[in-house]
Formats: sequence, C-alpha cells, structure tokens
Amino acid sequence: MLDLQRQYAPIQQELLDALASVLESQQFILGASVAEFELAAARQLGVAHALGCSSGTDALWLALAAAGIDPGEAVITTPFSFFASTSAILRAGATPLLADIEPATFNLDPKAVETVLDGPRGAAVRAILPVHLYGQCADWTAFTRLGEERDLKLIEDAAQAWGTEWGGVKAGALGDAAAFSFYPTKNLSAAGDAGMVTTNSDDVAERVRMLRQHGMRRRYYHDELGWNTRMDGFQGAILNVKLKYIDGWNQARRAAARRYHAYFHAAGLVETGPYPAHGIVLPHEVPGSRHVWHQYVLRTPRRDALREFLTERKIGSEIYYPVPLHLQEALKGLGYAAGSFPEAERAAREVLALPIFPEIREDEQQTVVNAIAEFLS
Ligand SMILES: Cc1ncc(COP(=O)(O)O)c(C=O)c1O
Repeated sequence: MLDLQRQYAPIQQELLDALASVLESQQFILGASVAEFELAAARQLGVAHALGCSSGTDALWLALAAAGIDPGEAVITTPFSFFASTSAILRAGATPLLADIEPATFNLDPKAVETVLDGPRGAAVRAILPVHLYGQCADWTAFTRLGEERDLKLIEDAAQAWGTEWGGVKAGALGDAAAFSFYPTKNLSAAGDAGMVTTNSDDVAERVRMLRQHGMRRRYYHDELGWNTRMDGFQGAILNVKLKYIDGWNQARRAAARRYHAYFHAAGLVETGPYPAHGIVLPHEVPGSRHVWHQYVLRTPRRDALREFLTERKIGSEIYYPVPLHLQEALKGLGYAAGSFPEAERAAREVLALPIFPEIREDEQQTVVNAIAEFLS
C-alpha cells in the first residue's frame, strides 16, 4: 500500500544530519528546528502563521479553541472522515452537527450544510469544519459564501492535504484556521506524531502559541486552560528537510493518478459516476482545484470481495472509512442512526483506496489494474 523506504533512501543522509543538529543543539521541544520549519511552512503555503504541535488531532482542537469556539456552540462537519474531525469538536467542548457528503468527491456537501443551518439547531452553529478528504479541497467557493452570509468561522481539516489548492490558494490559507497532520503515512510526514495549525489571523496564532503550552504567555503564569501539545525538535528537523521535496512528491502523485486513470480506461473498466453499477467509478479532480492524491479511491459495489481478491495477490488496499462517524459506538450520543446520512453510508460500503505514493512504479500500477480487471471479468 505504501513503501516509505523508497522516500527515505535518497534523503537518508540529509535526515540524519538534521537529527544530529537537534542533538547538538539539545533543543528537544519546539526550539530552533521547529521555528525554522514553521517559517518555511508558512512561506510555502502563503499563510501568515504556521504553528507546530504534537498531532493532527491536537491541531484540530487547537484551531477550534483558538478560533474561539466555546462550549455550547455547534460546529458542522462531515460523517465521512477520520474520527478526529468530530472528536476534536467534542474535546473543544462544542457540539458536532453532521451533514452528508457529495457522492462524487466524498467531501462535505454545502447544500446539506445549508439544510442543517436552516434546521432547528442551526442557530447554535458558530463554525463549519470541512475536511479536504483524500487530498482534494472541499468546495471552498460555496463554504466561503456560507461563512460570509451566516457569519460563521471556517476551520479546515487539512490533515490529508499538504499542497492541495482551491482557486490557486493553498489549503491552510483558505479558512480562519486549518489543521494539518504529519502522521507517517501522510503526504508530508514526520517520523512519529506531529501536526500544525495555520492561520492568517495574528490573534488566532497568538492563542495557539499560548494554548499549546498550558495556556502560558509568561512562564508559569497560566491565563487559560490549555494543554501540552508542542512539536518536538526532531520532528521539526525531519519536516524541514521533507518540505523541500513535497512539491515534487505531490507532482509524482498526480502523475501516478493520471496513469491509473489511463490504465483503467484502457482496460475498459470505467463507469461514469457517481455510483457504480457493476464495475468501478474513478476518483476525479474538481475543476479549479489541485488534487494531491493523498489517496486514490475508487467506488465499486463488490468492494469487500475485490479487496479480498487483491489481498490474496499481495496487493495492498485500504478502506477509508468502513464506518461513518455517526455510526461509531463512541459517537452514539450525537443522536444519529443508520439512514441519517445515506451518501456517507453508501460511500463506506463502496470505497477502496489503491496504492499510491510518489515512488510507485508504472509496472506496479499496471499489476493493480490487471488484477482488478481479472476480478471484474
Ligand atoms: C482527516 C483527518 N483528520 C485528522 C487526523 C488526525 O491526525 P493525527 O493522526 O495526526 O492525530 C487525520 C489523520 O489521521 C485525518 O486523516
């Protein structure tokens, strides 16, 4: 599914040198390497502030808390994401309200969000938290309009989306605040857990700095209840090296996605979407966006049988995500049930992510496509 050794090998010495410089400095928490990464990251994304923290989950919580989402207020997000997109809202003391997804992109549907805003709980909503799922931006034109019309904050879950764009603006610079994850399988990845909040607001940035260090502006004087969620120096050093390569890696992902498209079309396997009848529906790039293909996810009706078939042939695949968030045991208290979000539920039954990473070879992709063709025949 993913071979991280192929990324490591060509930059091994650079990474080891970067780690050695942290050891020599003995600055293990935040420190010079994180500060350097924060500056370079902000420059690359075209955003005023980038602040390192200890995971994408904490970045979501920090972004919500720093943007001033208070207990009792509600935040609308998607039921089709990683658990943290919703659990971070609960950790911030707010109430998650869910809205269904668009079947073609799997991203939060602005029309479904509008329905929630017009519904009985709409008045409590302070923010929308769209997720840029699989490396493609949610419909930011529509969310910007909704944010302005309804006076709502927009928080991006950009955990899977380093380098992706909407209308030429990079994810991380679109909303009031954004959260990134550098979990080792992400397209920009650390050597452990790490995350980042980005924002164009001086005020939000100042609050993130304070909240990530137990609410301290001055050492041992705690102004607010924060948390210990700082990026450590080794992760800053690793990420600073990888930041120089991420554009090239994202371009290689885009080339790999184009190859999958071409091979599947050549094999005559492709159905027009959004739903598959017998074959497969390919993922697509929305005009005006720049997909970075963190995942290449197709839809197919006999998904579980196909996955088993691929596994038998030692071909990796993954299901992101098998259970929508409203049907998770831990989130039963939100009060939703089976049938509440039919698009998310259908996607959970049909999606299958295929191997994609910058170094994947053409012959490997052809093997994947051949195996799927064999299964479908
Ligand atoms: C969409 C999404 N949000 C949030 C997270 C949480 O990030 P982390 O695992 O770094 O806490 C992830 C990654 O796992 C994710 O994919």
